[in-house]
This record gives sequence, structure tokens and C-alpha cells, in this order.
Amino acid sequence: MLEIKGLEASIGDKQILRGIDLVVPSGEVHAVMGPNGAGKSTLGYVLSGRAGYEATAGLATFNGADLLDIEPEERAALGLFLAFQYPVELPGVGNANFLRTALNALRRARGEAEMDAPGFLKLARAEMKRLSMPDDMLKRNVNVGFSGGEKKRNEVLQMAILRPKLAILDETDSGLDIDALRIVADGVNALRGPDFSALVITHYQRLLEYIVPDRVHVLVSGRIIRSGGPELALELEANGYAGMVADAA
Ligand SMILES: Nc1ncnc2c1ncn2[C@@H]1O[C@H](COP(=O)(O)OP(=O)(O)OP(=O)(O)O)[C@@H](O)[C@H]1O
Ligand SMILES: [Mg+2]
Repeated sequence: MLEIKGLEASIGDKQILRGIDLVVPSGEVHAVMGPNGAGKSTLGYVLSGRAGYEATAGLATFNGADLLDIEPEERAALGLFLAFQYPVELPGVGNANFLRTALNALRRARGEAEMDAPGFLKLARAEMKRLSMPDDMLKRNVNVGFSGGEKKRNEVLQMAILRPKLAILDETDSGLDIDALRIVADGVNALRGPDFSALVITHYQRLLEYIVPDRVHVLVSGRIIRSGGPELALELEANGYAGMVADAA
């Protein structure tokens, strides 16, 4: 279970998160929607421990562990996975090596045996087949020259291999075709279960037709101004944010 209480964060002297309260119970998928610049990506960065995005007040725990107090690697070892709105490219780093290194770091942290190269390739190839990814994407450098949709597939591949307990997906608001949306949705839905939770940040009501969320939260100006069921996404699609912001004021 992810529990966030009174979370605040600033970038420079500008306060971005102004007291976020949010609980995502184990087994649930929650969506976060909100206008550009509301602080959605910042929330994901603060939770994952990205440099430069530190909480200034409040709490965030995952299954009881204080997330804000530990290194990004330790957060990952607890099962946290962040898919970026803009995935990083890593020139000079092969995708297969990158994935196997990440997987083995997690396995070590969990006290499991490391996976050797042949074992890893077998696992990766099976997942790639499922995602309709060509084999050569394992040999290429991480995300370098990947199209938007290929980066998405690669991200879902990472998720399928690392099997996180908490996935935070920050979805790009442009450039994804219907197939890519489906791939993201299938990737999340495949992991759904009692020990998995996800926070899906999106502008797309459409994505939420494929990943049906248990709850939808509306983040505006660094605060969650409303929470509701999946119908809230439809209401936003129909009416935009203005009315909701006025009601909350
Ligand atoms: N590194 C940074 N330096 C300066 N300002 C930043 C930085 N990161 C975020 N901000 C500012 O924080 C605010 C929130 O940004 P954030 O990326 O969290 O918004 P968002 O809700 O994800 O928006 P979008 O829907 O456009 O992705 C914005 O005003 C943004 O300019
Ligand atoms: Mg964003």
C-alpha cells in the first residue's frame, strides 16, 4: 500500500506540491489526471527519488517503509518502478545488459540468485514476443533512436521483467497510437493482482478505457482537488478542469 500524507515539494523557490494526500491500497490501480504544470510528473519524481525533486514536508510510505528517507535504489528494491513521461536514452548502454543488471540488482536485494545471460535472454525473448518487439531491440542501446511507440514497448518490457509491486506510469500526452496505448494497458493489466498497485498519470480518458482504474484523482496546482471512480475521467473529458477548479475554490 502506498500512503502519501501532506506531501509538499518545491523546485528552486517555487512550491509545486502543496500537500498531497493519497492512498493506493495493494491490488488497486489509481489514475492521476490534471492540467499541464499541475505537478503530476513532479509527484512521480519525488516518489522515485529523482535528483532535484525532494519533499519539503509530508510523508510517503510503501508497505510501511518510509520512501522519502531512502535512496532511489532502495526504493526500487522495495518494488517501486517509475516509467517516465520522457524515457531516458542511454547511448553506449546495451538494452539487454541494462535490463539484466537492473533485474539482478533487484534479485540480490530480495536475496534471490542472480540470473545468468542465457536464462535472462530466454525470459526477455518470451516477453518481447508477447509485446511484438523485434529481437534486435535487445541489442540496441537503451532507447537510442527508438520511436515513441518503441520506447513505450521497451518500458513495458522493463516492467514485465522487473515485476514491480508499485508502478508509477507517467504517460506522454501525445504521439502514442492506439496500439501503444493498448500495450501500456496490457502491460499494467498483466501485472494486476493482490500485491501490485499502480499510479497512472495520464491526460487520456481513452487509456483509462483499457486500464480501468479503481480510483481517479484530479491534481490541480499541487493539490488533489477531487477523487472519484472511473466516471470522474469521463466528467473531465466532457467538461474540462475549469468547473472543477471553481467548485474546489
Ligand atoms: N526541473 C524543473 N525546473 C523548474 N521548474 C520545474 C522543474 N520541474 C518541474 N517544474 C515546474 O513545476 C511545475 C509542475 O511540473 P510537472 O512537470 O510536475 O507538471 P505536470 O502536471 O506533469 O504537467 P504535464 O501535464 O504538462 O506533464 C511546472 O510549472 C514546471 O515548470
Ligand atoms: Mg508531466
